[in-house]
Amino acid sequence: MAPVKITGAIAAALSMAVISYLICNCRSKLKKTRTSNFTREPKNGLVGAIGNTPLIRINSLSEATGCEILGKAEFLNPGGSVKDRVAVQIIEEALKSGELAPGGIVTEGSAGSTAISLATVAPAYGCNCHVVIPDDVAIEKSQIIEALGATVERVRPVSITHRDHYVNIARRRAAEANELASKLRKADQTDAKVLNDINGFIFSVEKNPIFSSDCNGGYFADQFENLANFRAHYEGTGPEIWEQTGGNMHAFVAAAGTGGTVAGISRFLQVSLLSFVSLLSSCLELSNLSILIVHFLQQEKNPSIKSFLIDPPGSGLFNKVTRGVMYTREEAEGKRLKNPFDTITEGIGINRLTQNFLMAKLDGAFQGTDIEAVEMSRFLLKNDGLFLGSSSAMNCVGAVRVAQLLGPGHTIVTILCDSGMRHLSKFYNAEYLSQHGLTPSASGLEFLGLG
Ligand SMILES: Cc1ncc(COP(=O)(O)O)c(C=O)c1O
Repeated sequence: MAPVKITGAIAAALSMAVISYLICNCRSKLKKTRTSNFTREPKNGLVGAIGNTPLIRINSLSEATGCEILGKAEFLNPGGSVKDRVAVQIIEEALKSGELAPGGIVTEGSAGSTAISLATVAPAYGCNCHVVIPDDVAIEKSQIIEALGATVERVRPVSITHRDHYVNIARRRAAEANELASKLRKADQTDAKVLNDINGFIFSVEKNPIFSSDCNGGYFADQFENLANFRAHYEGTGPEIWEQTGGNMHAFVAAAGTGGTVAGISRFLQVSLLSFVSLLSSCLELSNLSILIVHFLQQEKNPSIKSFLIDPPGSGLFNKVTRGVMYTREEAEGKRLKNPFDTITEGIGINRLTQNFLMAKLDGAFQGTDIEAVEMSRFLLKNDGLFLGSSSAMNCVGAVRVAQLLGPGHTIVTILCDSGMRHLSKFYNAEYLSQHGLTPSASGLEFLGLG
């Protein structure tokens, strides 16, 4: 029996040593990450300056609700929005997989922020950027994208099922860039100057308005379906929020456009044994494994964090979350003749389920109105000096709704996606608002039933 006992003791000691090593190793790693967030050391280029944004206590809303309402100040990213993280993740993953070649062109169909972030970040990776944008989006967004050196196509908003929906055009442009690159390679060999018809578009090396003669292929960023978007938040924004609150938070709320933000953060905050095990299986390195173990242990300290969606007018997600049905048959994208959205908020609201949104773990949803978002933006400007874009204002409406649901004493986190500077021609334009019957008139938060 003695040898068995000794073997058992050795095995137990060895297991303890391995567990202690993992925990110590990972504590020191987390400490290093934490330290690097708050030192004044130079950041490694533009990309190094993305993320680790401050979490701001929104004093006015906290005092009005009796909750701690915290906003993650994503508008402070170098490209001005939460989408910087997504742009980095998409480009890095595509370069790593070889789907994007150095010097290649990243194409995207975007209502603005993601395009601005891709255009900001692409040069840091030696890549170019081509953006297809609906022509009803605030003009300053396409002006910024062009100023950043990307090419822009403004197109009529049509249904996603239409061949010429901006997302479908962007996908096509990447395929065209790939065909062009391959023809250019062949032309190099045959010295041919004029290239053939590609997908119905006539390209010539001299005349092609979109792709340059040194085009090295294209990659469709596909922020709606590309899960790199989700991972940017699951691996970045979620852990930062966890760290900045010390895990002492009760709820998270945000609106969804692609769904990447709400999915990545909600999924991270409620890591379960099941998702931990599935993550573990995709984790090969010991160092990563140790970080995951500590994440898991930390999650177990507060497994009751609730995540909510705030949905703008015209979007079907509220119905999906609360009733399990996205829309009536008439409302489905592709059934309507016109752009299905009926909101002045930009970048949020959708009538289809994206791969990114499907990753979300939500406990409930609220509907916000345009006038609530407008009133909230003016209230925050007046009381807190926060000059925020329309989706951020809607997120803050969501934070108040969650505070009203949970009652005083809770800590609620939301996302401040971008700044008001991107919204001067519509959301902050008195004439535009008056034409749409959205002139703000509240003196406090009475539009949400407070004060
Ligand atoms: C300004 C702004 N806020 C919020 C969102 C929504 O974020 P997500 O796409 O992660 O759902 C977007 C998306 O494009 C956006 O542009």
